[in-house]
Amino acid sequence: MGTKSLCLLLASVLVAYYVYTPVPETIEERWKLMLINAGFRSVAHVAEFAEWLGLVHYMEVLMMITSIEYTAPISDENVTVTDTKFNNVPVRLYVPRKQSSGLKRAVIYIHGGGWCVGGSAMEPYDLLSRWTANELNAVVISVEYRLAPMHHFPVQFEDVYAVVKFFLQTSVLARYGVDPDRVCVSGDSAGGNLAAAVAQQLLDDPEVKAKLKIQALLYPALQTLDLDLPSYKENENKPILPKSLMVRFWSEYFTTDVSLKEAMASNRHVPAESSHLFRFVNWSNLLPEKFKKDHVYASPIYGSSKLGKKYPGFLDPRAAPLLADDTKLFGLPVTYVLTCQHDVLRDDGIMYVSRLRKVGIEVIHDHIEDAIHGALMFITSPTDLALGHRVANKYIEWLNVNL
Ligand SMILES: *[C@@H]1O[C@H](CO)[C@@H](O)[C@H](O)[C@H]1NC(C)=O
Ligand SMILES: *[C@@H]1O[C@H](CO)[C@@H](O)[C@H](O)[C@H]1NC(C)=O
Repeated sequence: MGTKSLCLLLASVLVAYYVYTPVPETIEERWKLMLINAGFRSVAHVAEFAEWLGLVHYMEVLMMITSIEYTAPISDENVTVTDTKFNNVPVRLYVPRKQSSGLKRAVIYIHGGGWCVGGSAMEPYDLLSRWTANELNAVVISVEYRLAPMHHFPVQFEDVYAVVKFFLQTSVLARYGVDPDRVCVSGDSAGGNLAAAVAQQLLDDPEVKAKLKIQALLYPALQTLDLDLPSYKENENKPILPKSLMVRFWSEYFTTDVSLKEAMASNRHVPAESSHLFRFVNWSNLLPEKFKKDHVYASPIYGSSKLGKKYPGFLDPRAAPLLADDTKLFGLPVTYVLTCQHDVLRDDGIMYVSRLRKVGIEVIHDHIEDAIHGALMFITSPTDLALGHRVANKYIEWLNVNL
C-alpha cells in the first residue's frame, strides 16, 4: 500500500470517527442525522477554539448558522410577509391574503436557540410561520427578541412580553382582523420557555384584557435548578443539543461569568436558601415511572449563596416557569406540550405536564419516541428530515383543530 492510500485510509477513518455519533436505532435517516450533527459539532469546535484564542465569544461563532440561514421577508401568493416593529421590538409578520368573512386566528411564535442564537428570519422558522399562516388562515407574529451575550435575562423575556402585550390590545387585534378569543402563544426550545413564562405573567397583568386561548410548548426548557435529570443523564451526548451546550445556554442567559456555567455543569449552583424550590422540579414525584426507569433520586447539593445573589435570574419563574407556585398556574390556557425522547429537555416538559394537570389545566401531551431536540429545524433542504416534517405537521394540525 502506498503512502497516499495509507493517508487516504487514515483520513477516512478519522472522518468516519468524527461523523459517527451514537444515534438510537429507532431514529430514521440515521446517517443523514449524523452528518448534520457533525456539521453542528464542527461549528461548536471552531467556536471553542476561537474563544480559547481570545478572538470572539463562543456564541458569535454559533450565530453564523443563524446568519447563513437568513431569508428576506418575501411575500408569496398566500401570505404577505413584512418585517416591522411592535412596541419597538422587531417582528416578522405573516398576514394571509385569502379573504375571509369572519375574524382570523393569530399565533405569536417565539423561536428557539438557547436565548443566544436563532432568529425569526431563519429559513426553517420562516417556513414554519408560512405553513402556520397558510394552514390556519391565521396572522402569525414571529418575534425577533434580543439575544445573549449582548443582552441577558430579563431582556429576552421583556421583548417578547412587550410584543404580546402590544398585540393583545383591542385596537391592534381589530386592525389585523383577529378574534380576541383565538390567540395562541407558541415556541420551541428557548422559545417554548419564553412562551410559558409570558403565559404565566399575563395572568397577573391587569392591563391585558384579551386572554390566550392556548399555549403550545415545543420541547421547551422550563427549569434551571436540576441539570442532572434522567433526561440530562440519558441524552448527554445526543444530537443536536448535548448537555454541555444546554448548560452553556442556560448560564449565558444570565451572565457571561464562567463561574455560573461551572457551577451549573456540576449541578451545584442553587444556594441552600432556595432549597424550597426543589419541590417544583422533583422528578421523583413528577415523572411517570416510564421515564424514571432505574434512575435513583439524590437530594440536591447546594452551591454558594453568592451566585444566587449575583444572578437571581436563574431562580426567577420568568426564566424558569417550572419554579412558579401552584397558585400561579391556575388560569393558564389549554396547553399543548411536545416532548422528544432523545432530548436533555424531555423531563422539563413532562414535569410541567404533571404540574399543570395537578392544578386542573387541560394539557395535551405529545411525546415523540423517535425524536431528537430541535426536530422542527429540519424542514428545509438539504438538512430536512422526515422527522422534521412529521413533527411540524403534528403541531400545526393540533393548532388548526384547537385554536
Ligand atoms: C398556497 O396555498 C396553496 C393551497 O394551500 C398551496 O397549494 C400552495 O403551495 C401555497 N403556495 C405557497 C408558495 O406556499
Ligand atoms: C422529592 O421526592 C421524594 C419522593 O417523594 C422525597 O423523598 C424527597 O424528599 C423530595 N425531595 C425534595 C427536595 O423535595
